[in-house]
Amino acid sequence: MTILVTGGAGFIGANFIHDWLADSNERIVNLDKLTYAGNLQSLASVAEDSRYRFVKGDIGDRALATRIFAEEKPRAVINFAAESHVDRSIHGPGEFVQTNVVGTFSLLEAARGYWLELPEAERSAFRFLHVSTDEVYGSLAAADPAFTETKAFEPNSPYSASKAASDHFVRAWHHTFGLPVLTTNCSNNYGPYQFPEKLIPLMIHNAVTGKPLPIYGDGKNVRDWLYVRDHCAAIRAVLAKGVVGETYNVGGKNEMTNLEVVHAICAILDELKPASHGYSQLITYVKDRPGHDRRYAIDPAKIERDIDWRPAETFASGIRKTVEWYLANEDWVCGVTSGEYSRWLDKNYKERVSA
Ligand code: NAD
Ligand code: TYD
Repeated sequence: MTILVTGGAGFIGANFIHDWLADSNERIVNLDKLTYAGNLQSLASVAEDSRYRFVKGDIGDRALATRIFAEEKPRAVINFAAESHVDRSIHGPGEFVQTNVVGTFSLLEAARGYWLELPEAERSAFRFLHVSTDEVYGSLAAADPAFTETKAFEPNSPYSASKAASDHFVRAWHHTFGLPVLTTNCSNNYGPYQFPEKLIPLMIHNAVTGKPLPIYGDGKNVRDWLYVRDHCAAIRAVLAKGVVGETYNVGGKNEMTNLEVVHAICAILDELKPASHGYSQLITYVKDRPGHDRRYAIDPAKIERDIDWRPAETFASGIRKTVEWYLANEDWVCGVTSGEYSRWLDKNYKERVSA
């Protein structure tokens, strides 16, 4: 048996592939375009594994996806591929529409063409699992209840709007065509192999290189943090036990302000890599992100009850593992922070003068 993942050279996909190969003997094929966020170094240790195949390509290339379906006959697709960074979606939304909306549509069509030709038993066992985000639900006020699966979509950024659109296409392909889909909407992830444009790896990288730690606005925006391997376990569990056509919110009840997160990182660095100054002295308030969502929070009751999934890590254990991983993997960080990365820092932070 084989599964097809898209975007497997990115942060969550790479963790998913490592965990999959450690856990199962089933073959895994990875279709990834290798954008700035895709990095084969994250998968170097499995590159020669006979159960793993990498294909460089775009989920929007229907002919390529159709060929992979025909060659590999996967029993499931897990669609991780996306443009995923809110700040980049503000500077250039076009790629987000292209990959997240048009690309997902194209992949759905390739999957449907393949699925329709399957013998009955395989057709009913087939799954298209779409990996999405809690950001589709919009922003919460401090006293609002956490997001349930029935919360109306109110996306506020080009990124979340494009993910919301893709979720709607996935839903419609089930409702109209009967494609056996599943959707997961997860909160903010952190852990190994995350590109240092996102809050946690950016703060670790800046701290160890003695650079300012740029806090957008007042630093009191709240995110609901989940260790990446817990997200990967949730995806495996939903793939195995999820009810076709359903969506599942994934989160670890770990709401924290950005300032709390950055102070936690600084405290671990103070212990593991002491510097003459305390790391929290590097904290700098900078101009806020336009349209910055105030708070996200996941109500995971449905996935706990129906799928029996719960996170294994607390924030304290997960953030320590993450900081340790970045300290131990400077080669990986150097590999991804050359070239394009410095142009991004210029674009995103140059105009955010310290507040
Ligand atoms: P990422 O940006 O680290 O990786 C995305 C991967 O997709 C990269 O390997 C990139 O090369 C690939 N890709 C981009 N466009 C492609 C295309 N057109 N065709 C094929 N491959 C393409 O993203 P991530 O953080 O690993 O997120 C994976 C998925 O999970 C995304 O769909 C994202 O919306 C969702 N998600 C992320 C988080 C998070 O906190 N990171 C939380 C919830 C949901
Ligand atoms: P991010 O990791 O970009 O995830 P998302 O915007 O998808 O939640 O950002 C997490 C939070 O951290 C968000 O409230 C924005 C904030 N942030 C900063 O304060 N400074 C930074 O340099 C970055 C990248 C993010």
